[in-house]
Amino acid sequence: MIEVEGLRKEYGDLVAVDGVSFTAEAGAIYGLLGPNGAGKSTTIGCLSGLLEPTAGSVRVLGRDVVGEALAARESLGVVPQELALYEDLSASENLAYWGGAYRMRGGELRARVAQVLEEVGLADRAKEPVKRFSGGMKRRLNFACGVLHRPQVLLLDEPTVGIDPQSRVRLIELVREQAAGGTCVLYTTHYMEEAESLCDRLGIIDGGKLIAEGTLAELRGKVGERDLLRLAGVFDPERVRAALEGVEDLDVVQADAELVMLAVPGASKRLPSLFAVLTEAGADVRETTMTQPSLESLFIELTGKELRE
Ligand SMILES: Nc1ncnc2c1ncn2[C@@H]1O[C@H](COP(=O)(O)OP(=O)(O)O)[C@@H](O)[C@H]1O
Ligand SMILES: [Mg+2]
Repeated sequence: MIEVEGLRKEYGDLVAVDGVSFTAEAGAIYGLLGPNGAGKSTTIGCLSGLLEPTAGSVRVLGRDVVGEALAARESLGVVPQELALYEDLSASENLAYWGGAYRMRGGELRARVAQVLEEVGLADRAKEPVKRFSGGMKRRLNFACGVLHRPQVLLLDEPTVGIDPQSRVRLIELVREQAAGGTCVLYTTHYMEEAESLCDRLGIIDGGKLIAEGTLAELRGKVGERDLLRLAGVFDPERVRAALEGVEDLDVVQADAELVMLAVPGASKRLPSLFAVLTEAGADVRETTMTQPSLESLFIELTGKELRE
């Protein structure tokens, strides 16, 4: 349903998206997971036709988003990161506006507006101006605008940022319902837990590049059974590396003057012996954190940094 091939987008000297390729299927949720500035919104922008790619191709239902823009956009629903709502208009007026843009009219439009308002839990607030809505209500209305015309492909850009827990739960349910109904959903997020619980396939994006891609099981397989051990303190990086070189079944992910990160299976059992080696190398460990195999540890292993800034 979505085919992205070698997508590149430059803003002047800055390469925001750098050779991204993936495909997403009907009835499934494809996640793009990455920190702020990774290139998620730029990718969504290129898919929705809002931004023109510098290179590469983007197809939706087999149609080129640049070459066959109108045809491609017809089957697309977009829920942008920045709310696209008119504050002075009511919830149903906002929806009617979007419906009009998709050539929905009259009774059909009215019935569909009532239906989506019901689905997102805003039926009783339909006539109120949006400026009186909470952040979570606006997010739910933003979602309703994106699905109003029953798109076959739905692009969701960080739809749960800054909302109350109840709205979050409802939105996640709504996203699942869309996929269950056969829609192809592309979902961007910087929340690891959301990506893990929601997505069938995932691309991990950082610095404009997809650094890992696959099903959740495939990605977990890449981390293997190794825990990630993060040691803060005072270190001599060269001595630490030299001392750990001979230790079996261990990778040094990072070693600098204040932080050492190690990937080891069964880390908790090996702590005493590892501490002995480190102390021998003059290390002063002040804090230890252990992360079990997860997308979090995969991300840290691949990038040397944590997802959350
Ligand atoms: N209109 C723009 N002009 C210049 N740089 C931009 C523009 N939009 C985004 N960027 C830059 O492109 C990179 C990717 O941004 P973005 O796609 O918004 O990331 P994300 O959505 O993952 O947070 C960032 O470095 C950002 O500052
Ligand atoms: Mg963004």
